Amino acid sequence: MSTFQNLRFFVTGGAGFIGSHVCEMLLEEGGLVTALDNFDSFYDRAEKLRNIEACLKQSNFRLIEGDIRSRDLLISALREARADVVIHLAAKAGVRPSLEDPAEYADVNVRGTIVVLEAARICEPRQQGRMPPPLVTILPQQVLIPLRLVRGLLRVKILL
Ligand SMILES: NC(=O)c1ccc[n+]([C@@H]2O[C@H](COP(=O)([O-])OP(=O)(O)OC[C@H]3O[C@@H](n4cnc5c(N)ncnc54)[C@H](O)[C@@H]3O)[C@@H](O)[C@H]2O)c1
Repeated sequence: MSTFQNLRFFVTGGAGFIGSHVCEMLLEEGGLVTALDNFDSFYDRAEKLRNIEACLKQSNFRLIEGDIRSRDLLISALREARADVVIHLAAKAGVRPSLEDPAEYADVNVRGTIVVLEAARICEPRQQGRMPPPLVTILPQQVLIPLRLVRGLLRVKILL
C-alpha cells in the first residue's frame, strides 16, 4: 500500500518550486492533494504552470488559484478539502527583493502565515472531535514568528 493512501493534503504555494515537487511526491504516494497558489509575479506564471503540469493530469489533484491572505477563501477551501495535513509553502521568496519591498514581504510571509494557522484551526471539524490538521511549514528566511506562539496555535512542524 502507498504511504499516503487516501490522506488529504492541502499545500499552499503548490505551484512553486518546492510546493510542486511536494505535490508530485504526495500524489505518487497515493495522497489526495489540493494546492492553493496565487501565481505571484516573482517569476513567470507559465513556469509555475509547468511546475504542476504532471499534477494537473491527475484526478487526485485540485488547484485553487487564490491568496493565502484571504481568510474566508482559505477557510472554505480547507473545509472543502477536508485536509488531514496542511503544508504551508506559499511565500514571497528571495532575500534581495524583500529588502526592496519589505512591507509586502511581511504581509505575505508573516501575516499570511498567521492567516493559514488560524484558518487551519478554525476549519477543524469539531463535531467529529478531531484535532486541527497538523501543519508542516518551511518558514521563509524573512519570517520571524515566536515559535511558542505558532506551536500553541497548532500541532506544527517547522523546517528551518
Ligand atoms: N527554494 C529553496 O532553495 C528554499 C530554501 C529554503 C527555504 N525555502 C522556502 O520555502 C518556501 C517556498 O520556496 P520556493 O523556492 O518553492 O518559492 P517559489 O516562489 O517557487 O514558491 C512559492 C509559491 O508561493 C506562491 N505565493 C506567493 N505569495 C502567495 C500568496 N499570497 N498566496 C498564495 N500563494 C502565494 C507563489 O506564487 C509561488 O508559487 C519559501 O518560504 C522559501 O523561503 C526555499
